[in-house]
Amino acid sequence: MLTGKIALITGASRGIGRAIAMEFARAGAEVIINFHRSKEKAEELAKEIENQGGKAYLAPFDVANPKEIKEAVKALEEKVGTIHILVNNAGITKDSLLLKMKEEDWESVLRTNLFSAFYVTQAVLPMMLKNRWGRIINISSVVAFTGNPGQTNYCAAKAGLIGFTKALALEVAGRNITVNAIAPGYIETDMTEKLPEKIKEVFLQEIPLKRAGLPEEVAYLALFLASEQASYITGSVFHINGGLYRG
Ligand SMILES: NC(=O)c1ccc[n+]([C@@H]2O[C@H](COP(=O)([O-])OP(=O)(O)OC[C@H]3O[C@@H](n4cnc5c(N)ncnc54)[C@H](OP(=O)(O)O)[C@@H]3O)[C@@H](O)[C@H]2O)c1
Repeated sequence: MLTGKIALITGASRGIGRAIAMEFARAGAEVIINFHRSKEKAEELAKEIENQGGKAYLAPFDVANPKEIKEAVKALEEKVGTIHILVNNAGITKDSLLLKMKEEDWESVLRTNLFSAFYVTQAVLPMMLKNRWGRIINISSVVAFTGNPGQTNYCAAKAGLIGFTKALALEVAGRNITVNAIAPGYIETDMTEKLPEKIKEVFLQEIPLKRAGLPEEVAYLALFLASEQASYITGSVFHINGGLYRG
């Protein structure tokens, strides 16, 4: 499905990004695993992919740092080749009620979850434009649509990604590049593991399918959007949340 394609997945050392890298590699893509802090986990994933006969490259950079990104992407283009698929997945949460939110927590969540998509996409896009083919997939969240108390920073960033997706889709459609967003609900990863048990219970009660989603389930959707078969889909948002929100 992705043979001959090179895919960069940000935040691929853990969780949803890891699952996407794994599925893309299984589908024949060469995958570039971006990570920031979890070097060992990224190395483990690369090994697992290579053991299964795939090809993986490690790309350590902070998605909130435009200088690091430019240097890393330039080096990747030289070493690995033209990037065909970009998944802007890296993300963090720093929750607190607005009145108590520290300015640095507002800023770091916006920089890591939203500005990152601008920085990384701007660095990678020239390759896709030249190649007249590309797939950009932005990982938003259900809370961009529903809101969530304690997450004004995160909700603002994830809602920003939706506008970013729609505007960019229009800018690059003429070059055969599609840009879409995935808005996951409650998915079992380190990010949701740290939620208080009571909040998890409330989430689970509200989800019609009565369970959390798995990172792999998000990865299957990303795989489809990255494929040739999804070539007529652009500027769209895909909800994957067990029925929690049916936008
Ligand atoms: N889990 C959910 O329920 C859920 C729901 C909706 C949306 N999402 C979104 O899905 C995406 C993945 O979430 P997840 O649940 O898989 O989270 P996770 O398990 O906490 O993993 C986050 C990933 O992002 C990377 N990352 C964080 N800051 C980074 C930075 N500055 N530069 C580069 N990489 C960075 C981490 O890498 P290092 O460890 O190497 O730093 C890690 O690989 C996020 O955008 C999240 O907002 C998640």
